[in-house]
Amino acid sequence: MRLRRKADTIDVLQGKERIVLNAEQWKGRWMELFVRNAPVHAELGMGKGRFITELARLHPDINFIGIDRYDELIRRAYEKALVAGAGEMPGNLVLVRANVEHIDQMFAESELSHIYLNHSDPWPKKRHENRRLTHPRFMNKYMHILEPGGEIHLKTDAASLFEYSLNVFADMNLRMRNISLNVHAEGTPPGHVFTEYEQKFVAEGLPIYRVEVLTNKEAGS
Ligand SMILES: C[S@@+](CC[C@H](N)C(=O)[O-])C[C@H]1O[C@@H](n2cnc3c(N)ncnc32)[C@H](O)[C@@H]1O
Repeated sequence: MRLRRKADTIDVLQGKERIVLNAEQWKGRWMELFVRNAPVHAELGMGKGRFITELARLHPDINFIGIDRYDELIRRAYEKALVAGAGEMPGNLVLVRANVEHIDQMFAESELSHIYLNHSDPWPKKRHENRRLTHPRFMNKYMHILEPGGEIHLKTDAASLFEYSLNVFADMNLRMRNISLNVHAEGTPPGHVFTEYEQKFVAEGLPIYRVEVLTNKEAGS
């Protein structure tokens, strides 16, 4: 997802509380940005931020980080967060402009407890396999920055990415649970939080695939 860039976006974001444009400087000390100590959940590739801002509103006892590589998407998410926080950035939400490629330089060992991958770009061509956010080269980084017993929650409209990801998780001996080939088949589950992409695909009648992965430090590719 890419939006047309507005001339003032960097000025809007720079220096704002809990907006991070230099992620690597916070490695090992993200907790300093939040108003309270709590487990940290991160969405990688949050897009316009509906999912992460809504989770932050629903779960004040958890700290959330939304990451995307485009300034304009951080701005959209920031605008949503301000609405949720009645004009202020919620104390349990940080929005980060960064590329997931560098995630191991952004977080220290065991700094996260959950990672959400929602409608990640499927990169269907074989030659682009290593760009998929569930490729083993990314998974090995996630294993390091997730705490023992940490979780990865994946949902996608792309059957090809889902199938590929299940195979990667199985090859890494990771335990999976709550696997669904159509999350909304019998109505939306209670407490379910939609992403922007998910809203669009569900409105079109397409199935959403979902899995939860439990990490362990012994897993390897
Ligand atoms: C298809 S959109 C899904 C957005 C949102 N998660 C949703 O479900 O509505 C994928 C998002 O991932 C972001 N993205 C893709 N690769 C990324 C990377 N390497 N680092 C950071 N963001 C990335 C894109 O900019 C885009 O906003």
